[in-house]
Amino acid sequence: MLGRERIEYKTPDQVRAMRRAGLVVADIHAALRAAAAPGMTTADLDAVAADVLDRAGARSNFLGYQGYPAHVCISVNEEIVHGIPGGRVLRAGDVVSFDCGAVVAGWHGDAAFTLVLDPADPADELLVRTTERAMWAGVAALATGTRLGEVGAAVEDVVDDVAATTGTRLGIVEEYVGHGIGTAMHQPPDVLNYRARDRGPRLRPGMVLCVEPMITAGSPVNDVLADDWTVVTRDGSRAAHYEHTVALGPAGVWVLTAPDGGAAALGELGVRVAPLD
Ligand code: MF3
Ligand code: CO
Repeated sequence: MLGRERIEYKTPDQVRAMRRAGLVVADIHAALRAAAAPGMTTADLDAVAADVLDRAGARSNFLGYQGYPAHVCISVNEEIVHGIPGGRVLRAGDVVSFDCGAVVAGWHGDAAFTLVLDPADPADELLVRTTERAMWAGVAALATGTRLGEVGAAVEDVVDDVAATTGTRLGIVEEYVGHGIGTAMHQPPDVLNYRARDRGPRLRPGMVLCVEPMITAGSPVNDVLADDWTVVTRDGSRAAHYEHTVALGPAGVWVLTAPDGGAAALGELGVRVAPLD
């Protein structure tokens, strides 16, 4: 069982090395955000990511992963995760999730975000903002909690709160989860996005974890397309995905894939970050 496998605890120097990979991922995100526009193909945006990686002297951890053919996963509208870039032309109103990573000196970073191109439907905004909020609530739980299971509880609480305050019941995808990260992109432990009976391993300094909720506007029931990668909602509802790579230190968390280390978003939740640089 993955859950019983060994966790790779990082030294402060190793966390600082991972920060370099995290900042490359942040640079890719900034470039994708700046470039994304109606009329572009998803392959055009993959090329934008490849260029940033190239200029940083970093390698893609997605390209070739179990045969994955691109540098970024780009998932549009009812696609939840693992969409493969290609000839699809993006249009105004599309909900587009970007997930990508980088390897620098053997250390991995991994992060995702969603944007709406020329947003028109408030339901899309609620979906995307809730997913982002759920991710930050999960990251904050790493800072304030004692067990890994508190991340999933925090994600679920945000979705429940949105249902209570807006009447909109969003779905949490359960088949795909966050993970440990370090000398490989995917390491133990699993980081669930929902409440579970098992409280999970104790949170300890040296853990580096990816928190990555995937949330749907309708039912979270999903299928994998015939390309063997693209995960879509069965009911055709739209989905969003946010992810950060987060290091746990003795004095708190440091969000390695956020340019500010998570200071602004976590500050709003009353959590102070503890960068090691
Ligand atoms: N980014 C996914 C994750 O967050 C992994 C993508 S696998 C790939 O864990 F093959 F598509 F790259
Ligand atoms: Co990930």
